[in-house]
Amino acid sequence: MSTPIDVLVTENIVGQPMDELRGKLSVALEPDLWKKPDLLAEKIATPRALVVRNQTRVTEDLIRAAGRLEIIARAGAGLDNVDVEAASRAGVVVASTPIQNAVSVAELTLGLMLSLARRIPEADRHVKAGGWARQNYYGTELFGKTLGVVGFGRIGFLTAMRARAFGMEVLAYDPYVDPDSLPMIEAQPILVELDELLRSSDFVTCHLPGGKQTQGLLGYDRFCRMKPAAYFINVARGEVVDEAGLLRALDERRLAGAALDVRSTEPPESDAFTRRDDVILLPHIGAFTHEAQHRVVASVCRDVQAVLGGGRAINYFNFPIPRKQVDGL
Ligand code: MLT
Repeated sequence: MSTPIDVLVTENIVGQPMDELRGKLSVALEPDLWKKPDLLAEKIATPRALVVRNQTRVTEDLIRAAGRLEIIARAGAGLDNVDVEAASRAGVVVASTPIQNAVSVAELTLGLMLSLARRIPEADRHVKAGGWARQNYYGTELFGKTLGVVGFGRIGFLTAMRARAFGMEVLAYDPYVDPDSLPMIEAQPILVELDELLRSSDFVTCHLPGGKQTQGLLGYDRFCRMKPAAYFINVARGEVVDEAGLLRALDERRLAGAALDVRSTEPPESDAFTRRDDVILLPHIGAFTHEAQHRVVASVCRDVQAVLGGGRAINYFNFPIPRKQVDGL
């Protein structure tokens, strides 16, 4: 008789902490299962833990089908692919990794700002094609420019601190931020309304969570408020941007360029952005550094092991132990 699966992993989540977890519990690593929701709905009946990234849709129906589930561990920060309310109603712990990849995402943001400002990808393609026309590759400095941070959470804060080191002014838009919080005191951004941020910034970077509240927040009208020489960067969630609106604004030269690490559909189905030299495209790699992934995988494995062993998750979002255990649900 085969051992029942304790932990079902539905995306590519590997590394030493996962190897160690596999030595202690029965773990099924199925990196492509997120692509087969019907099969996932069958396989979810027995595991006590589900480990996902951002591509598995953890819906209410899936959670209902998961009769023995105690913890959903999200290897990443955003929980927009997990129905947290349904999990809470079912008494299932939801854990995530809210800070583990923040430095990597902030560093990538600075990398994209420099890439846009100095046209690095374009110049690289030019040299590889045999060119040396450096007079065509004038760029712009970050020094003395204004960075607008849309969403001043952990990543927005870390990005602002790094931008300060480049001698940039920082504006921030975040209706939920506490003006007396440590990040605000430390980074000292000027808090402004979104339209003012768009009007006044030379670089606008988006660090908002996904979800209904932010969906399509940045569309054509808002891009038209940016300076014609300004750049837009999105390393947060693709759905925050209305991509058709961004394309139209770029066509009309309402802004100078954009860098997108995240897309409304991933991978994108058809892509008008690929033909543009003023747009840099990446395949959602903000969190993909060795350091961040080690922290992320270590955190989810530790929380899964704790909960399945009758202990408490550290990075829980709703509650640290399954409420099934507390209330006999
Ligand atoms: C996150 O939410 O942490 C990032 O988008 C990384 C990911 O989903 O893989």
